[in-house]
Amino acid sequence: MINQPGPNDPVDESPVTVFGGTGFLGRRIVSRLLEKAVVVRAVSRHPRKNKVDDASGERQSLQVEADILDPSSMASAVAGSRAVVNAVSLYVERGEQTFERVHVEAAADLAAASRDAGVERFIQISGIGANATSRSPYIRARGRGEEAVKAAFPGAVIVRPAVMTGPDDAFITTIARLVRLLPIYPLFGEGSTRVQPVHVEDVAEAVSRLALGRNPAEASIFECAGPRIYSYRELVREIAAQLNLRVRTVPVPFAVWSILATASEFLPAAPVTRNQVDLMRFDNVATRDLPGLKELEMQPRGIEDVIRMIEHAA
Ligand SMILES: NC(=O)c1ccc[n+]([C@@H]2O[C@H](COP(=O)([O-])OP(=O)(O)OC[C@H]3O[C@@H](n4cnc5c(N)ncnc54)[C@H](OP(=O)(O)O)[C@@H]3O)[C@@H](O)[C@H]2O)c1
Repeated sequence: MINQPGPNDPVDESPVTVFGGTGFLGRRIVSRLLEKAVVVRAVSRHPRKNKVDDASGERQSLQVEADILDPSSMASAVAGSRAVVNAVSLYVERGEQTFERVHVEAAADLAAASRDAGVERFIQISGIGANATSRSPYIRARGRGEEAVKAAFPGAVIVRPAVMTGPDDAFITTIARLVRLLPIYPLFGEGSTRVQPVHVEDVAEAVSRLALGRNPAEASIFECAGPRIYSYRELVREIAAQLNLRVRTVPVPFAVWSILATASEFLPAAPVTRNQVDLMRFDNVATRDLPGLKELEMQPRGIEDVIRMIEHAA
């Protein structure tokens, strides 16, 4: 493997600390780092055992309990780390957990604590389309968070994934479930918003390389997107076709989705959220002028494998 240390390389025992290290993306970042024989600290509010078996034997991350909203626990969580990754999410605002608090203030607190601890590299996971002047509170917080992190930790690297797919994702899995279930599939608007789904494992590999200082483009922002751009309507049809199903689609205005999302956020596990609706209003594809997986010497994989896995799991 490319990043395995050679027999004469000095072994660096200082950990890479992954905040959100038990999440959909975070736990894969942890696995990719463990495969590269890196010591990893996985931080979350509900830590659990995160074991990875590989050819070199069983490796295990150190599980640390901390809350990114509690600055007093940050110093010890990041102490001695060579790199810190922030992969904490917040998709629905509840109480003191607002987009501004988590994606801007807490991200900046973590970046500042990392800087003060002498950490070499800080990687902030944001999202394609992050925009500090957006009217959407979620997209605006992602953009403002990037700026706050860069101010607190000069040299921080921002990683903006497109919508991520994987066997346990909330995107393609949901579309596949609904295609099977519904006689008519409701589109976001006309279904013309363009998306560029990226495999979560590819993003995890990219982040692990950046956390270890492999940044050939020496860039401060990377966009991680998949190999193909689909309109939402095309994506629904492609998923149905791969599942050997016929699908009839119907346009549903965004205003209707906003009402549904606002109501559904009162449920414990909201089937659709306002930030998802906001994200589906605008194209979510990589811009041409920012580096991405190619510059990290990676070949992005398509959605076919994920759909196959969903098909076999059904
Ligand atoms: N999923 C996508 O398609 C997608 C696309 C683009 C960008 N992103 C971004 O990628 C990042 C990771 O997303 P994800 O989908 O992997 O999220 P996720 O599955 O919801 O995982 C979030 C992680 O953060 C931890 N966490 C949440 N609140 C925390 C807090 N206050 N303090 C400490 N840890 C906390 C969670 O564990 P506990 O709950 O136990 O604390 C979990 O480990 C986010 O920034 C997200 O916006 C995601």
